[in-house]
Amino acid sequence: MSFPTVRNRRLRRTSALRSLVRETVLSANDFIYPIFVTCGENIKEEIPSMPGVYHFSMDRLEEEIRDVAATGIQSVLLFGIPEYKDAIGTSAYDANGIVQQAIRAVKEWAPELVVIADTCLCQFTDHGHCGIVHVSEETGSAEVDNDSSLDLLVQTAVSQAAAGADIIAPSNMMDGFVLAIREGLDDAGYSDIPILSYSVKFASAYYGPFRDAAHSAPQFGDRKTYQMDPANVREALREAESDIAEGADMLMVKPALAYMDIIRLLKDKYNLPVAAYNVSAEYSMVKAAAANGWVDERSIVLETLTGMKRAGADLIITYHAKDAARWLRGEG
Ligand code: PBG
Ligand code: ZN
Repeated sequence: MSFPTVRNRRLRRTSALRSLVRETVLSANDFIYPIFVTCGENIKEEIPSMPGVYHFSMDRLEEEIRDVAATGIQSVLLFGIPEYKDAIGTSAYDANGIVQQAIRAVKEWAPELVVIADTCLCQFTDHGHCGIVHVSEETGSAEVDNDSSLDLLVQTAVSQAAAGADIIAPSNMMDGFVLAIREGLDDAGYSDIPILSYSVKFASAYYGPFRDAAHSAPQFGDRKTYQMDPANVREALREAESDIAEGADMLMVKPALAYMDIIRLLKDKYNLPVAAYNVSAEYSMVKAAAANGWVDERSIVLETLTGMKRAGADLIITYHAKDAARWLRGEG
């Protein structure tokens, strides 16, 4: 059957009709809001390349957490800028590290908020890589050593769970990190803490503003020996499969916008929740265009987040979360 019998426009005629047949509905329940915590006092400092996103010192964090909770967002992802950095990222697994302090405080202020800890070393190492750097005897060049990094990542995850994190989200892209962290958590008595694995994390230029914000840019080289080549799909499946076999409870695709096909693939192929990380430069580009009056921020953001959900994301990590949650409630 076709025109004139079939007229697809019939169901688009009014707003009510459109909402009756809408296939994808965005909800603040799906959002995870990233927060940057820093040392010092009375700090609420906007990140220049991410307007509307701030560094908070612990004493200013409470107001932000209350604001987040009030918008109906259920979950935050915590990042920390530590007091000191060294070659082995000691401040990442310090029981009194900035992230551990923040986790404890957030769970006290808002016990119902799901606190997710990003488990990586790059904010805490002086070289800015996500693992330990060894100088190869053969080539003389510095390399990120996989297996010796696992130990420190496990210590980091366990210290985050001990501080009260509800979910551990390892973002380091070392081989075997999910298994190592699962075993470490289980041995320490945290067998109920789920792992949201940054399974498919591409070596992306879209992390630029985040690295400014988290002071975590690599001091030499790049992350291409551990993060994935943006051109690869089959490898993405392999990453997801090994993580599932190692005990991941949820999978993540990161970045989101340029990788919607990967989101859809993981969603169709596996039976685990899929998270999409709408990363820093995706945010910054929208903010910059909106500030110039080139796009309508609210419409662009809601359309983009709806697209991610339609592509298969069950959860969306996004710096737009607070604004989007308010817009979804019909507030300006
Ligand atoms: C740390 C980490 C990064 C992001 C999240 N966790 C940066 C990176 O891997 O270089 C990026 C988030 C964003 O760009 O918003 N490994
Ligand atoms: Zn890292």
